Amino acid sequence: MRFVMSAAVVGILAMQGAEAGLKAVDIPPDTPIAAAAPARAATRAEVPADDRDEFYDRDNPGFTRLQRAGEALGGLPVDQDGKPDWMTSLRTQSITPRQRLDDAPRPAPLDLDVVMRNTKQMPNVRFPHRAHTEWLDCSNCHPAPFAEKAGSTAIRMEDIFRGRFCGMCHDRVAFVTHRNCYRCHSVPQQGTASAAR
Ligand code: HEC
Ligand code: HEC
Ligand code: HEC
Repeated sequence: MRFVMSAAVVGILAMQGAEAGLKAVDIPPDTPIAAAAPARAATRAEVPADDRDEFYDRDNPGFTRLQRAGEALGGLPVDQDGKPDWMTSLRTQSITPRQRLDDAPRPAPLDLDVVMRNTKQMPNVRFPHRAHTEWLDCSNCHPAPFAEKAGSTAIRMEDIFRGRFCGMCHDRVAFVTHRNCYRCHSVPQQGTASAAR
């Protein structure tokens, strides 16, 4: 899968570690790469297989020093794809990410749902501002790619799958689009299949 480690996600992982009382990962400054090389292959073989290690570049000299994904993500609620469900993690306080690096206060999340109805046979899409503004700033989405006016953006799934609009984040740092139709298409319209969630 494609997964870009954003600063936010790295922050989340760091916080998850702190919450669970895990030891801090101590990265020594500038260990010469050549000197570390012979030990590396042996150490790596001892690392238990964990499919989430797909997030890492195993050939990176820092690989053995990084906290294992299984250790950082283990115990988090998962979605139907088996990936961490970040919204449930936040709501159940399995993670308590810092709001800002400088600890300055952030504006309260915006409680405004926008229902998008150009969905053909699919249930309509409910876009929840609250869920998004618990992580993100208005400027991540306004004025681009979305104007601050409901119904003003023409969006097709094809665009989303290609990484535009919702797809700027979904499939990248937010939940996987093609396996979670009903997390977005959550508002049944008459004559369509009811939403799974
Ligand atoms: C990240 C949120 C999200 C996910 C996940 C998602 N959609 Fe959509 N979908 C949208 C939005 C937004 C629109 C546009 C709605 C509008 O403009 O009124 C849309 C529109 C559509 C449309 C009508 C427009 C078009 O392109 O034909 C169809 C059909 C559709 N989605 C099917 C699906 C299917 C099938 C899945 C799962 C494989 C899916 N969607 C997953 C957000 C999503
Ligand atoms: C993750 C993306 C995202 C973020 C972050 C976001 N918005 Fe939005 N906003 C949207 C989308 C999508 C729409 C609907 C656009 C459309 O239908 O064409 C929208 C619509 C709006 C609207 C129009 C509502 C209406 O009924 O016409 C307002 C006002 C708005 N946003 C304000 C804000 C403010 C204020 C913030 C920050 C507190 C914010 N938004 C953060 C995506 C976002
Ligand atoms: C700027 C990045 C960004 C954009 C653009 C974006 N999202 Fe999200 N979205 C997120 C993040 C981050 C989360 C929380 C992490 C997760 O659930 O994977 C999230 C979560 C969600 C959720 C889950 C809410 C819950 O309570 O479980 C829905 C539904 C959703 N987004 C729909 C949309 C739709 C529809 C669009 C496009 C109209 C969109 N998002 C655009 C970043 C974005």
